[in-house]
Order: sequence, then C-alpha cells, then structure tokens
Amino acid sequence: MEKAILSVRNLKTYFFTQRGTIKAVDGIDFDLLPSECLCLVGESGCGKTVTALSILGLIDSPPGRIVAGEVVYHDVNLLKSSREQVRQIRGKEIAMIFQDAQSALNPVLTIGDQIAEQIKLHLKFSRREAKERTVSLLKEVGIPSPAEAADYYPHQLSGGMKQRAMIAMSLSCDPQILIADEPTTAVDVTIKAQILDIFRRLKETRQMSLLFITHELGVVSEIGDRMVVMYAGRLAETATVAELLGNPRHPYTVGLINCLPDMTQGNDRLQSIPGTVPSLIEPTNGCLFHPRCDKALAICRRQKEPSVLVNQGHSVFCHLYSPAETSQPC
Ligand SMILES: Nc1ncnc2c1ncn2[C@@H]1O[C@H](COP(=O)(O)OP(=O)(O)O)[C@@H](O)[C@H]1O
Ligand SMILES: [Mg+2]
Repeated sequence: MEKAILSVRNLKTYFFTQRGTIKAVDGIDFDLLPSECLCLVGESGCGKTVTALSILGLIDSPPGRIVAGEVVYHDVNLLKSSREQVRQIRGKEIAMIFQDAQSALNPVLTIGDQIAEQIKLHLKFSRREAKERTVSLLKEVGIPSPAEAADYYPHQLSGGMKQRAMIAMSLSCDPQILIADEPTTAVDVTIKAQILDIFRRLKETRQMSLLFITHELGVVSEIGDRMVVMYAGRLAETATVAELLGNPRHPYTVGLINCLPDMTQGNDRLQSIPGTVPSLIEPTNGCLFHPRCDKALAICRRQKEPSVLVNQGHSVFCHLYSPAETSQPC
C-alpha cells in the first residue's frame, strides 16, 4: 500500500463527565493515503466528529482528553507536537469544514474578508494578493460573479452558496488534507448533488486527500475511494468503497447497506437497523454492536471483537470471522 499522509493509531478520546467517562473514540486505526477520498461512516453519535477534532487538536479539555494513540502526519506525531506546531498545521496543511459550518460564518464580515483573513493568517500575502486569491477560490467552488460575491455578507447568500463559501475558505491555503464533516447533511437534495460535484471536481484538480465524514452511504458511493465504518467509538470494517458495498462482512455494514433504498425517500436512513447506538459510558466488555446484531454469538457478549483480515485492504472487526470461533449463538 502507498505510504499514508496521515495515520491514526489506537486513538482514544474520552470525555470525563459527572455522569461517567464517555469513550467517544476508543482505539481506532486508519490511514489516509495521498489524493484519496476516505469516508468515515457511522450513525450519529459514533464518534466521527470527535475523531476529526482529535486529529486537529481541537478537543475541548476539560471535559475531553486524548488518552492514548498517535496521529502521524508526515512522520510527525501531532499528539506529541507543541500547540504552536499544531496551530501552524491546522487550517494551512490540514483544513476542516465543520459540521454545521454555515453557522460558523461571521455575520458581520463579508465572505471575501473572512476568506482573506484565513489567507493572511497563514500566508504572507498582501491585501491585494489575498483579495485576488479569494476571488479565484470563490470561482473554483462555482460561485457566480465571484468578485461581487466577495462583498456579500453571509445573510445575503443562500444555504448552498454559504456552503460553497465555507469550502472556498477551507481551501484558502491549499491544504494537503481536507476534513469535511457532514458537508452534505444540512442541505436539500439538489444542493447536495451540487456540493458533491464540487468535491468530485476538487479531487480531480487538486492533489489533496479528503477525509469525508458522513452518515449516508449513498454519498459514500458517489465520492469515496475507501471507507472506514465506525460503531460506538470503535471500528467495524474498513475496505475500498467498491469492496465494502459489494462484499460487506460486518452485520452493521450490512445493516447500513440494507437501509440504502430508504435514502431516496429522505427517511431516517438507518431506521431499518433496530435499536440505537449504546451509551458510551463504561460500555461492556463485549462487542458493542451485539445487542443489535441478529448474528450475535455467545462470545460477542463477553469478549471484545477481534480484527480479522478478510483480504488485502479489507478488515472486519467481528467475532463471526474469527478463525478460532466455535461459540454458540446467544
Ligand atoms: N464535549 C463533549 N462532552 C461530552 N461528550 C461529548 C462531547 N463531544 C462529543 N461527546 C460525545 O461523544 C460521542 C461521539 O460524538 P460525535 O463524535 O459528535 O459523534 P458523530 O459525529 O459520529 O455523530 C457522543 O456520545 C457524544 O455525546
Ligand atoms: Mg458529527
């Protein structure tokens, strides 16, 4: 396999609250390869956003803390780097479009000023250069009349245009990695298609890796090269998108895929997997998915799921595929 540009190793991010310790991310591993789109998938509450914020050193502490693991970017463990080093990388080399990004726009600054601000923060550009670059970024994300649009305030833009402006802002310093957290979730179907188009185009025109977070498998099939399925803070399955959609092994992945036809109706996408993500406070010893799993074995209750290599590049975290498995159904 190609050398990763970003490697997450045994990452554990916990929140220490009065109710108990929330193990939001509990020992996950994945690699982001150069120029690929890796999708991070799972239901709401599975730890996707916490994973992204951990990579960027943005976990609120307290109550959160990264208690173990490594985030290796170009051979440097960001978790061992100084705040200043991480601040230099964040926004410049690794950019992020936050979930609910549109509300993060500053209502009293024009779109152009907000993007120029980002550019001047990280790059030594003059005012005029920053302005020129801003207009070219707005053009790149398909905002019509970009020079005029730069002078608009956020409230003068539609939801789709605001989302485009956020994408432009994230690209302001030509990042090597772009993390996009559910960029198509809060928008309607037409805009979703347009936003996906932009990401597809960026993939072709820029040498950039994309970590694309979504709970919608339909979106994954349109944009992703490889995917990582998360469940309750842990990994369920990883492989290429084609392999996972064609040959899913984990019962959770199968459940997600079975929900796909519902997507066109705009229903709650994951309705057909009965049950909900468990509380992540002091979870049990076994596989966290077992209470919802129709294939659960007795061992799934007692013992943490093993990592099993299905074939090159395809891993599943499930007792069902353990060669040593002789357990009885529960
Ligand atoms: N600041 C916080 N304090 C306490 N718990 C948090 C905090 N942020 C996230 N969590 C918990 O971490 C878990 C994972 O959340 P999140 O990463 O946002 O899920 P996702 O993005 O997959 O929907 C959830 O149980 C959530 O309640
Ligand atoms: Mg989230």
